[in-house]
Amino acid sequence: MNRREFARLLAIGGAVPFITPEVTWAKSSKLPPTPSNPDEKFWLSVRDQFVMPKELTMINAANLCPSSGPVLETLYRVTKDMDQDPSMENRAKLGDGREATRKSLADFLRVTPEEIVITRNTSESNNLVSTGIDLKAGDEVLLTADNHPSNHTAWQEKAKRFGFTVIDVKVPNPHPGPEFYVDAFTKAITPKTKVISFTHLTSTVGDLFPAKELCRLARERGILTLVDGAQSFGLFDVDLSDMQPDFYSGSAHKWPCGPKENGVLFINKNAQSKIWASIFSAYPGRVGVSRTFEGFGQRDEPAMIAFGEALKLQTQIGRANIEKRSRDLTTALVDGLKKVDGVKIWTSPEASRRAAVLSFQPGSLDVRKLSAALYKNDHIGCATRGGQDRPGIRFSPHFYNTHADMEKAIAAIKKYVASGV
Ligand SMILES: Cc1ncc(COP(=O)(O)O)c(C=O)c1O
Repeated sequence: MNRREFARLLAIGGAVPFITPEVTWAKSSKLPPTPSNPDEKFWLSVRDQFVMPKELTMINAANLCPSSGPVLETLYRVTKDMDQDPSMENRAKLGDGREATRKSLADFLRVTPEEIVITRNTSESNNLVSTGIDLKAGDEVLLTADNHPSNHTAWQEKAKRFGFTVIDVKVPNPHPGPEFYVDAFTKAITPKTKVISFTHLTSTVGDLFPAKELCRLARERGILTLVDGAQSFGLFDVDLSDMQPDFYSGSAHKWPCGPKENGVLFINKNAQSKIWASIFSAYPGRVGVSRTFEGFGQRDEPAMIAFGEALKLQTQIGRANIEKRSRDLTTALVDGLKKVDGVKIWTSPEASRRAAVLSFQPGSLDVRKLSAALYKNDHIGCATRGGQDRPGIRFSPHFYNTHADMEKAIAAIKKYVASGV
């Protein structure tokens, strides 16, 4: 396929579904049962659940994942039903659907529906926590130095308003190992520490933090924990009953491959009396903390229902299988890229300290030009990181990718590093 044909295909993919989605949104071929040891053939049938053109190789799950065919179909079907008859009588069932998604989220994270708030995204979830905890001058919030602005900037800005102090725990590169962080936090905690907040898997270079150990450390000292799960929710088989954070946040549109503008905030039952709700309006959830925390006014309930569908697909494939697949693809990328002269990998060489977010500097190439060339010439979608701090390209493969995608990406980087963009 040449460039013009590819552009046409993308344009068609974007425009036609609004007219006749049932026809053009691939009625995804039926997914076969997951074999006990999923092979490349099985993963190709997983790829068929997505409507991306075959030629498009998206390796950018850390930013935004495509929704699967079943999610798109649910979104369209429920939205159409609602818009065909927007009466309150017809819409009553949507509340049941939203509560079913809450139950699926609770099962997915191994907690109770009473601890789940369905938010718009991780940004909102993180901010509901940093605004909702009663902090004042003299209190300290300990952060890892490498967080998304919805976690880092949010705490810093609220510190200006409420008078508490934010302290960063250094994040050396490469990842110095989980023990380093347990030790660094142990030393940084003071009697004034009220909250510890960190990113489970960083979006910058894909460092994996020892979430369970850090939560235990905090819990033993009566300190609240916020774990930003934007890059772990839907990638790992996250078990919050084991990790035991006070708060955990995530987005539907990343690794779960759900609809846009849906997210989750877990509020541990033990922490519910220690946080204030920030938004009060109509139509809250029906159980537990959602009754006070989820009164966000009119919601996009079809999208909330489609969120449940995304979780169903992941559960059907097997969540341990998804994590293993994404990790294997990342290891293939690391192994290929480390052989390319001039490439400097920022992500840990130790598989246990990383997962499926891989950042590297491609020699002296201008990363924006490189990423534009990768998209235009090779039909590879990825992310870039500018500035001085570990700049480069970020690849984040997921369960819809294949080993052929990884080979294609490595060959493309090799080509541009050798001959320029
Ligand atoms: C670690 C982390 N936290 C929070 C966010 C914000 O996610 P959202 O834009 O879905 O709110 C991101 C987005 O990339 C992220 O990587």
